[in-house]
Amino acid sequence: MSIKLTYYGHSTFGIDADGTKIIVDPFLAPNNPLAPAGATAETVDADYMLLTHGHGDHVADAVAIARRTGCTVISNFEIGNWLMAQGVENVHQMHIGGGYNFPFGRVKLTIAHHGSQLPDGSDGGNPAGALFYFNDGSDIYFGGDTALTYDMRLIGEAGGVDVAVLPIGDNFTMGPDDAVVAAQFVKAKRVIPCHFNTFPPIQQDPDDFARKLADEGIECTVMASGDEYEI
Ligand code: NI
Ligand code: MN
Repeated sequence: MSIKLTYYGHSTFGIDADGTKIIVDPFLAPNNPLAPAGATAETVDADYMLLTHGHGDHVADAVAIARRTGCTVISNFEIGNWLMAQGVENVHQMHIGGGYNFPFGRVKLTIAHHGSQLPDGSDGGNPAGALFYFNDGSDIYFGGDTALTYDMRLIGEAGGVDVAVLPIGDNFTMGPDDAVVAAQFVKAKRVIPCHFNTFPPIQQDPDDFARKLADEGIECTVMASGDEYEI
């Protein structure tokens, strides 16, 4: 079994978990200026979708993809209701602290400090991160949009993660220096930075971030949009 990540820019990732396709926070072309031109709501594969929170740069293409593919959308209760009101049929509602065993592995929603208002002004509940514990024993933590939070230590104390996908953009989320601490808190073996260079307020140098992680003995993989990475 293998877990393959595809980066679509900003916070949008595809996961191929031994053939099961999972799209995380779909924000694709043409809305996402970093997404590869051909990566749109009409083209991406999805058996499952994970939405961390309700902001437009995370849910822009969610309804279109869910309607087209019939994928099961994993989200908090409030976002799930918003999707169902728009005709999305397969919704798996969860909430922070809760985990569930899906066919591909276990997903647990984690605390994120951020907002979650949906694009139409609806209440998107509380924002979350997500832990994926895949059937092959590998695990990924998606921080979602969040500040550095001391609660991240709980993830490290529970055994840490192989890969932590962390926002580094600053302004809306933690910046690079806090993300280094977050990587230490969750005991990440490897970090993949996200949520940077999409918009003017979140310009960052990911290679400088990688050097800061290296100083702490943590590996970093800087993915360009369109890149694939196999865990
Ligand atoms: Ni956000
Ligand atoms: Mn965001």
